[in-house]
Amino acid sequence: MTKRQKIDPFVIQYDEKSKMLSSYSVKNDKKLSDISDFFYNQQEVKMILDSGKDPLVYTYHDKVQPEIPGEFSFGITIIYPGTIGEEFYMTRGHFHGKNDGEFYMGLEGEGILILEDQDTRKAQALYFTRNSLPYIPAGYGHRVVNVGKIPLIFLTVEAAAGSHDYEIIRKEGFGVLVLKDPNSQKGYKITPNPSRKKI
Ligand SMILES: [Fe+2]
Repeated sequence: MTKRQKIDPFVIQYDEKSKMLSSYSVKNDKKLSDISDFFYNQQEVKMILDSGKDPLVYTYHDKVQPEIPGEFSFGITIIYPGTIGEEFYMTRGHFHGKNDGEFYMGLEGEGILILEDQDTRKAQALYFTRNSLPYIPAGYGHRVVNVGKIPLIFLTVEAAAGSHDYEIIRKEGFGVLVLKDPNSQKGYKITPNPSRKKI
């Protein structure tokens, strides 16, 4: 029998004040210019960038584990409040390359998790907030949108040996958009994506 690769157990802390993990291996800031293709209103994107602004849309820092099947990587994602045109700040979104699930825990703010079935390409949207634990089953593309007025902060837990496909989302988009809606009590609406590419 081949010896299984092992890592040492550990505990780290989440600091509610700084919103940071006490130990992490990767930190990434996503400004509008980094993720401009993913927003629906390209005219608005161009206007903002041409004016010299480049707002920070989201940031994450992750405790990444060695790519050993069965192990988990985890991290904190912060999506700032704001919109590009009518579309709320959001993550790019991706499908997992190896058919792994993932789960989150809401720490602060209000979010919408867009989930899209890999086989049917049907999209759905789930609301989550502090202390919610949204579960993403294997085979669902996913994106998170901040629909609140404060930063949306959540813990993410995923397979350490997993991979991410962002390009399919960049090319085709998700089936639904989450847009600001002053006529709705919730302040937002979930609407079919008119620029969704034909599958
Ligand atoms: Fe994921």
